[in-house]
Amino acid sequence: MRLVKYLAHAGVASRRAAERLIADGRVTVGGEPVTDPARDVDEGSVVEVDGGRVEREERVVYALNKPPGVVSTARDTHGRRTVADLVPSDRRLYPVGRLDADTTGLILLTNDGELANRLMHPRYEVPKTYVAVVQPAPVPEPALRLLREGVQLDDGRTAPAHVREVRPGVLELTLREGRKRQVRRMCEAVGHEVLELRRTAFGPLRVADLGEGDHRRLTAAEVERLRAAGGAVGL
Ligand code: URA
Repeated sequence: MRLVKYLAHAGVASRRAAERLIADGRVTVGGEPVTDPARDVDEGSVVEVDGGRVEREERVVYALNKPPGVVSTARDTHGRRTVADLVPSDRRLYPVGRLDADTTGLILLTNDGELANRLMHPRYEVPKTYVAVVQPAPVPEPALRLLREGVQLDDGRTAPAHVREVRPGVLELTLREGRKRQVRRMCEAVGHEVLELRRTAFGPLRVADLGEGDHRRLTAAEVERLRAAGGAVGL
């Protein structure tokens, strides 16, 4: 296995951060500094970061129902509360993707860098469902059709999405993309401001059983279903 993948699998860091650790000369294999992220290592290799032995740790995935005002980075340089603060763990957990600070709902955290990368990769197009309260209400049919078929944003046209108005001014949108502030920008592009935004589903998982601010560890069966959604059955 490539060294960078080994570090991400072990929960040391995300893949990108692991690349930096290696480039900065902080990683040794068998006592020798290694700066090649593609260096082949296996379970028997003695890999150290800053002189500390990297142990393979159990991989865990948590679902959190994110409250508003919490940022979805692992650490915040401005001292704001983060999603990682809401899921106490001895392990270093990383959020899978991002929600805006004022967006609520389902976000996953994991120490499995490989799974996180797959779930976020545009190639696998894991569907995510959002409920948006918009104004003005109701949303006329031509605007709904545009949201479904694709809206021109400054970073390109959006892919087809499932969109329905569940009540006047309340949209349920299922997207297979994850661009920055995508739902807010899509709605703005068709003349509607998003007042509230909540993610209700991520792939096969629903937020319904979690109270706001609550979290729970996913079962092995749920993690398998997620892996399948990320195109990686049995990985
Ligand atoms: N779309 C947005 O606009 N914001 C989010 O937080 C998630 C999706």
